[in-house]
Amino acid sequence: MTISHLLVTLAAAISSVQAHFAFARVRQNGEWLEPTRYIRNKTSPFTERDSPDTNYHVRRWIDPTYAVTDYPDSVRCGRDNMAHAADTEVLTIRAGDQLEFAHQRKDPEWPPEMWNNCPDERGSCDYASWNPEGYIHFNHPGPFIAHLSKVPEGQDIHSYDGSGEWVKIYTLGLELRDDQQHPIHWIPWNDEGIPAPFAFSVPKETPDGDYLLRADLVYTGVYEFNFTSFPSQLYPSCLQIRVESDYEGSLPKGIRIPEDMMHDSPGMNTSLSMYRFDKLDDDYVYPGGMLWTGKEMVVDKP
Ligand SMILES: *[C@@H]1O[C@H](CO)[C@@H](O)[C@H](O)[C@H]1NC(C)=O
Ligand SMILES: *[C@@H]1O[C@H](CO)[C@@H](O)[C@H](O)[C@H]1NC(C)=O
Ligand SMILES: *[C@@H]1O[C@H](CO)[C@@H](O)[C@H](O)[C@H]1NC(C)=O
Repeated sequence: MTISHLLVTLAAAISSVQAHFAFARVRQNGEWLEPTRYIRNKTSPFTERDSPDTNYHVRRWIDPTYAVTDYPDSVRCGRDNMAHAADTEVLTIRAGDQLEFAHQRKDPEWPPEMWNNCPDERGSCDYASWNPEGYIHFNHPGPFIAHLSKVPEGQDIHSYDGSGEWVKIYTLGLELRDDQQHPIHWIPWNDEGIPAPFAFSVPKETPDGDYLLRADLVYTGVYEFNFTSFPSQLYPSCLQIRVESDYEGSLPKGIRIPEDMMHDSPGMNTSLSMYRFDKLDDDYVYPGGMLWTGKEMVVDKP
């Protein structure tokens, strides 16, 4: 494929009006909770202040977010999430609890069958003649990441905008396979096969308090092109949680969003050959900063 041909393909992918996604349901210690409950809603349709693609000035629920052009709130927890924060319930968890996220690829409202009797205990599904197994596939490769932001002293979770620090607690990234041509395999996307489940534990060393828990799948940009031609796409959703914990301590230093998730932030762009799954970039780290294991901060890389 020539570069110009590839650019056309990329542009087509960016302006596609369907086929995006959003995380819309959470599972706590094995039990799927009511769809969308505890997750800050987004306003849809919503007009962003700018867009790398004019077709995408007005975005819908499942549309991508661009860190470089969109409002900071859109990048943190979804478009216009602050208009919905006050109405969002707070999920109480115990530090150490396991959470899992499920996604949708259609805008709301969803019929009940898109949440019930899903394959493999998934929390969402879409059965159709073209999709008899019901799994909701992804159209973009990239890492799934989850961050925590503690509500600052004196603030309320129902009005906290996420402008404080964010600490990454989970990444589901790529594996290198024994494949000469395309060794890079993004686990969440799974070559548009059955996507991986997004399940992880909130570190048991998380201090007591209220937090935003942000889940995102980052479709990384390409560094041979600037953000006008191929920016990364983000798909953030935030859960409002209260963490009960006996742990005496504090969270390590985190990143800021959107400042540390721009086109030139670590992990937010790759080479064209990595984009094509041909070769891992030498110094590639996953986006969103260091990973907190609960005990230490580690460089988060394949
Ligand atoms: C969330 O927003 C969408 C889009 O505006 C709307 O259709 C849906 O009813 C809202 N969900 C809740 C739980 O308010
Ligand atoms: C970014 O790329 C676009 C399209 O390829 C080009 O028109 C623009 O001049 C570039 N901007 C910069 C700052 O390089
Ligand atoms: C790509 O990201 C790296 C950081 O990982 C940064 O140094 C570089 O400037 C970025 N490239 C572009 C074109 O933004």
